[in-house]
Order: sequence, then C-alpha cells, then structure tokens
Amino acid sequence: MQLFRKPDDLRAWIAGQRQSNQRIGFVPTMGNLHAGHHSLIDLARKRCDVVVASVFVNPTQFGVGEDFARYPRTPEADAAGLQAHGCDALFLPDVDAIYPFGAEQGVRVRVAQLGDILEGASRPGHFDGVATVVAKLFNLVQPDLAVFGSKDFQQLLVVRRMTADLAFPIEILGAPIVREPNGLAMSSRNQFLDARQREQASVIHQTLLWMRDRWRGDGQTRAETEGAARDRLAESGLQPDYAVVRRSEDLGAPAPGQVSGLVALIAARLGSVRLIDNLQFDD
Ligand code: PAF
Repeated sequence: MQLFRKPDDLRAWIAGQRQSNQRIGFVPTMGNLHAGHHSLIDLARKRCDVVVASVFVNPTQFGVGEDFARYPRTPEADAAGLQAHGCDALFLPDVDAIYPFGAEQGVRVRVAQLGDILEGASRPGHFDGVATVVAKLFNLVQPDLAVFGSKDFQQLLVVRRMTADLAFPIEILGAPIVREPNGLAMSSRNQFLDARQREQASVIHQTLLWMRDRWRGDGQTRAETEGAARDRLAESGLQPDYAVVRRSEDLGAPAPGQVSGLVALIAARLGSVRLIDNLQFDD
C-alpha cells in the first residue's frame, strides 16, 4: 500500500492510475478504523480497480467543546487494517495540507437547509466542515466512486447533495450499518463507553426497530411515536437529543399515511458520549 502525506504526491500517483484507465474508489475517514470502515473498503474494492482511503481528523467539523482533541488517533493500526483489506493507497495529510490558508480561513462549502436540521441544529457548522473537507478531498483524489457509511445518514445525504450541486462526476455509495451483536452501531466513539454502557446503548437500535413497527402497526401520530421513543431512551438512562421519523430522501416530514421511503433517526447522549443511529424502513 502506498502512503501519501503531500497532496502533490497523491495527485501524481492518481494521474498515473487515470492514465492506465483504472477506476478509482475512495473511502474518506477520520481514522480509528473498525469493522464498519473496513466494510466500506471491501465495497470499494468490489466496484473499483484501485482503492484510496484518507485518514484525516477534520478540525472544521468539530464545534467548540466537542471532542476534536480527544478524538482517537491510531494511524499505524489504521494503515495495517487498510492494507489487510486490500486498500492501494492511504492519504494521511496534516491540517496545513488540507487548509493551506488555516482551518478558520479560506473557502467553506455549505449545504443549506439539509445541513441545518437535526445534527446540523445540534452541532452548528458541523456539516459545513464535512462538506468542505469532502469537496477538497474529492478534488484531490478525483475518484469515480466514493463510499460512505449510512450510520451517518444525514452526512450521506449532505454529501450526495453537495456532489450533485457542485457537479462532481462521482458516484456516492451508501454502505449498510455494521452493528455489534447487541445491535449497537459500530462507531469510533463506542470505545468511550464501558461494558455496562455498551449494553445500555443497545436500546437505541431497539427503539429504532420499535419506531418502525409502531409506525407500520397502529396508526399513532408521528408526534406520539417520536415522544414515546424519547421516553423509552430516557427510561434506559440515555439523554435523547432527537428521535424522529423523516423522509429518507431529504429528511422532510412524512406525508400523512406515508409508509415507505422513511427513516427513523436517533441522537442521544450516554454519559459524555453522543451516539447517533438510524433505520431505513424499506430495508
Ligand atoms: O464520517 C467521517 O468519518 C467524516 O465525517 C468524513 C466523511 C471523513 C469527513 O471528515
């Protein structure tokens, strides 16, 4: 596996791949890779001739008081895992390489509305940081296909919208959520949970399943379903931020009687850890 720290070196290698008509798959990450990330590499591997991953803890998507400083950084283990999954190149830039005018200066990409609700409302500016760094990485890597996990469902929609609106000729593939045996969605933040909290956190997935079944079942209103879901989370010791049913296309409110094309999304705090998860009703 090739390792690049400088954008120019990555670009030169990519140019060579393009000249040999290689189809390029890209998996952007913030590192601390787990089985969920490896499944994205495996998907890219199946669909492309060469696979590039990036590991970059992006400062602009963290708000004040969020966990940028303590975000786990494990580059050696990440590189070993990527290599084991057949990744061809790892881009490991420093902050100056991505933000040559400084992380607080320079261009910002903003996906209005879609980036302002739910996670965007709880974490103002978060999706501006995500859209900005993904646009920069797309310009550097110029992939044919980019793979994102659907655990960050709103992020996936924001990236799709940004890609379409800025006319990047890139296919965006959403990969299925990888879960622990108890249903907890895999996340780098899970390592901040102790064994008891990991069990406690499985209520998030159970509540998503319950929301889906209740939605299909007994004609409760959306407000009743969402309120009851928040109660379930709170009764299990979590502090819910939101538990909602939305259209999976654009996260708008479902029409009365709508049963397909929906997604339930939950964000909740357990101790100091903020967890998110979702369930698409059509899956
Ligand atoms: O999902 C992530 O790991 C990050 O938000 C991403 C897409 C790599 C952008 O920094």
